[in-house]
Amino acid sequence: MYEKENFLGNSDYSRDVEYHLHSYTHPKTLSDEGPHILTKGDGIHVYDETGRKFIEGMSGLWCASLGFSEEEIINTITDQLNKLPFYHSFAGKTADPAIKLAEHLIKMSPVPMSKVFFANSGSEANDTAIKMIWYYNLARGLPEKRKIISRRKGYHGVTLAAASLTGLPYAQNGFSLPLDFVHHTMAPDYFNESLKDEDEVSFSDRLSNELEKLIIKEGPETIAAFFAEPVMGAGGVIIPPEKYFSKIQKVLKKYDILMVADEVICGFGRTGNMWGSETFNIKPDILTAAKALSSAYLPISAVILSEKVYQPIKDQANEFGIFGHGYTYSAHPVCAAAALKTQQLMVERDIIGNVRNQSKLFHDRINKIKSNNWFLNNSRSVGLIGAVEFGYEGSKKFDVKEKIAAKCAKIIQENGVILRALPGDIIGFCPPLIINQSQLNEMFDKIEEAIKDFDQTAYSLK
Ligand SMILES: Cc1ncc(COP(=O)(O)O)c(C=O)c1O
Repeated sequence: MYEKENFLGNSDYSRDVEYHLHSYTHPKTLSDEGPHILTKGDGIHVYDETGRKFIEGMSGLWCASLGFSEEEIINTITDQLNKLPFYHSFAGKTADPAIKLAEHLIKMSPVPMSKVFFANSGSEANDTAIKMIWYYNLARGLPEKRKIISRRKGYHGVTLAAASLTGLPYAQNGFSLPLDFVHHTMAPDYFNESLKDEDEVSFSDRLSNELEKLIIKEGPETIAAFFAEPVMGAGGVIIPPEKYFSKIQKVLKKYDILMVADEVICGFGRTGNMWGSETFNIKPDILTAAKALSSAYLPISAVILSEKVYQPIKDQANEFGIFGHGYTYSAHPVCAAAALKTQQLMVERDIIGNVRNQSKLFHDRINKIKSNNWFLNNSRSVGLIGAVEFGYEGSKKFDVKEKIAAKCAKIIQENGVILRALPGDIIGFCPPLIINQSQLNEMFDKIEEAIKDFDQTAYSLK
């Protein structure tokens, strides 16, 4: 696909390599192979500049839940641009779509919530949540209570605080991170981290004990909050054992530690309920959301606060004379209008009903890939998010340097399905929530066809 002649002269390939510092990209691979330039979207499909068509099996970055050509969102955006293309939310100003969106989010929250703050990305939402938690504890006269616990393999973004919460080395190496107020505890990765003969309940007990030990070691009076994704996405689609969150939340309650649900991937139907918190019995004090909030058509994120957290913040801000936080684009009217329309379409089209209807087929087909291929040793899914993990003979792993998952994802992409290799030699699946039965079958048929000869490659990588 990436021919040398593409690099000749003033091509898009050579100019991209020359001028663009890509997110999360290996610079040498980019300069050797050039970028993959996408030009068009249509439902669950995207097309590249050579005209090749792909099923977007990751919804972009776990985000384009309503696909890549939803006219109602596009028309709403255009209408709002014509009406009022920008206004801000400082000094009591706002625009109509942001009011409606805030009301909608509070009414649909998984637990009673009080206020919504808008930002532009998942990272900003998580950084904002940390600032609010610090403000909350200062307002309560607890200035020492500012440490945050998150989990190894968790992903919470890349801004300074969010990258510190993220428990993946690739987001921290070379950046002098994590910052010192963040501590990491174990991920609920039962497949890789359970002990011999340990069932899911005992594993969850062990993890909640580990958490409690960490809290006691650091001093409960210094721990402010625990951040967790309901399903860990970028860390490998790690689905927690059923009792995990109830055990964890018991510990948090005991020590007056806030529970923050990072719903940036799981929010808005992904796990078969509106919120991952509903699927996994999480009762968050604060919830962060982004991505499918607007089906990723425009950048917008939200921090949703309970009354318990909001009240002291409000009182403190009244004393200071201002709540001193906000982005130029917080509650941007065009982004808010796109999000509101996305959420209306979610309801009108019963998108969650579709997730539930398709989830069994999705689950069965992922499991079938695993059982048909000796080089995969685990498969899992909930709703329309899932993964297969590379390994053999029970729990043997391939050498990470061989990048087996990335090699496999590449040949799947050559056969027309975009997926993503994740750390730990895992391939993630996260198709748009509008996908129907025949499209799901087509996606998995293409994947199976692509990997039928991967056997040989896998043998050579053992
Ligand atoms: C769970 C989770 N939280 C936060 C983020 C960061 O979001 P953004 O990339 O919009 O900053 C991501 C991004 O993938 C995510 O998956």
